[in-house]
Amino acid sequence: MNILILYYSGVGNTKMVATKIFDLLHGSHEVTLASIEKLTTDISIDNYDSLVIGFPTIHASPAQPILTFIEQIKQLQKSIPTFLFTTCGLYSANALRIFAKQCANKNIITILSKSYRCAATDGVLIAPTMNIWSCHEKRLDKKVENDVSVFIKHCSNSPAVANIPRFKIYSILNYPNKYFGQRFSPQIYTHKKNCVSCGKCVINCPVRCIYKDDKGYPLFDNEKCIHCYRCIHHCPKKALSLSKKRPPIKTLYY
Ligand SMILES: Cc1cc2nc3c(=O)[nH]c(=O)nc-3n(C[C@H](O)[C@H](O)[C@H](O)COP(=O)(O)O)c2cc1C
Repeated sequence: MNILILYYSGVGNTKMVATKIFDLLHGSHEVTLASIEKLTTDISIDNYDSLVIGFPTIHASPAQPILTFIEQIKQLQKSIPTFLFTTCGLYSANALRIFAKQCANKNIITILSKSYRCAATDGVLIAPTMNIWSCHEKRLDKKVENDVSVFIKHCSNSPAVANIPRFKIYSILNYPNKYFGQRFSPQIYTHKKNCVSCGKCVINCPVRCIYKDDKGYPLFDNEKCIHCYRCIHHCPKKALSLSKKRPPIKTLYY
């Protein structure tokens, strides 16, 4: 089979799972792994037999860049069986369902969808002393391996049978998170005593909303920022944080 693995990853968890899936499949299948941020225009989704699409859950919904990506692609000429996965810090609510419905409009047929609990890229910054936020779920590798083998088995069913995840009733408890999270986003502060003007935040930003001031310190365009916190987690000097008073206590990369 010719399989395309597409993902968007804010900080790196989704990329890590997408890479695991690539490692499991390549060897027995022809597999392409691509981030939607680096997608070359010569990739034609119609040329693939099946798809894997991964994204983080942000405020109980799929991360905005993956939604924009799906909105922008043309409807596929044939139905393609797809494995959707999301990584989340605690609970993915209806993120997979929302995304599977968007995909169906483009002939991308969800036959399997899974959520994987990973380090919470927001929780680690907000409550760094709670260790639960900084680790992935137990036996994540094994779970991914099982899910991939189920997906491959299901791919042989023709025509592909759509399996849109059901509405999760408990997700109602997540509505305040969804409502307030999407409307009120915290600002990111630069702690100049730590900053060495390396520019990693500028290069890493998925929406190019960070500029350098005349001394090389980062300046944020808050209107454009999607609050993925990649800049905070990938700052080698812990110079960026959600707190005006102090640098972050814990980040996921440094
Ligand atoms: C702004 C923000 C909002 C988040 N909202 C949720 C959420 O509603 N539910 C959840 O379980 N995890 C939430 N998370 C945690 C991420 O989904 C989780 O850490 C994910 O694995 C990040 O993937 P990435 O490293 O590929 O960006 C949120 C993270 C951020 C930064």
